Amino acid sequence: ADINLQEIHDLLISIAHEAGKMMLTATPSYLDSGTKKNSADLVTETDKAIETMVSTRLQSSYPTYSFIGEETFISGETVLTDAPTFICDPVDGTTNFVHAFPAFCISLGFTVNKIPSVGVIYNPFLDELYTGIKGHGSFVTRHGGEKLRLPLKKEPEPLGELSTCLVGAEWGSDRTGNNFDVRHQVFVKLCAAKENGGAMVHSIRCVGSAALNLAYVAAGQQDVFWEGGCWAWDVAAGWCILVEAGGIMIIDFFSVT
Ligand code: IPD
Repeated sequence: ADINLQEIHDLLISIAHEAGKMMLTATPSYLDSGTKKNSADLVTETDKAIETMVSTRLQSSYPTYSFIGEETFISGETVLTDAPTFICDPVDGTTNFVHAFPAFCISLGFTVNKIPSVGVIYNPFLDELYTGIKGHGSFVTRHGGEKLRLPLKKEPEPLGELSTCLVGAEWGSDRTGNNFDVRHQVFVKLCAAKENGGAMVHSIRCVGSAALNLAYVAAGQQDVFWEGGCWAWDVAAGWCILVEAGGIMIIDFFSVT
């Protein structure tokens, strides 16, 4: 059967707004947040409650489509296939959410044949909604205002030199072994002066949400985003939005197994 991306996009926006209300009425604290793989990998009751709401609503409208969610993913069991699949991060930027730092969002992606085809990212705190549909562009709506096509810059500068870029990059939650060494080296190389072997970028921003980082590049507020170790739910929505804004996604590997 034909897949109606516009209808899916509209439903994902409605779900994102409901999730936004749940985030804003929650009172999370690091004191009652739980941890996953280590003490920097946080999860709250709100993450879980939103994911349940999202999967329930999607299941009732699209019972035959697949669903992958950060909080219900089972390593070795949950697999991304060619089937139409919703990919949900109920609260991307959980650390920010817990600390009341206003950069967190729900990230809702939809893939067909593993290709990100709809993306919805909503930051309820700032009331910023980023959306994209494959082949139909991407947009931002702020504070319920005008829906603006991305990128926002009228004449985006070609990225000739890293040294002119504002770069988003994240430490992530894995601070051990080779993963940490690679992150550390990337941060140093990006920031160091040229005579010290670096790119001397304008600066680095650690906004704390992979989805928002991708949306910010799509909007032209950041020029580049780099992270090692993202999961499908971190990037599925932002991927569609970024590509539709004329951006480029470079990956080493895309798998949720
Ligand atoms: C995390 C955020 C963070 C990134 C991590 C993600 P979560 O997602 O996107 O910016 O550095 O890799 O896991 O845990 O807040 O949903």
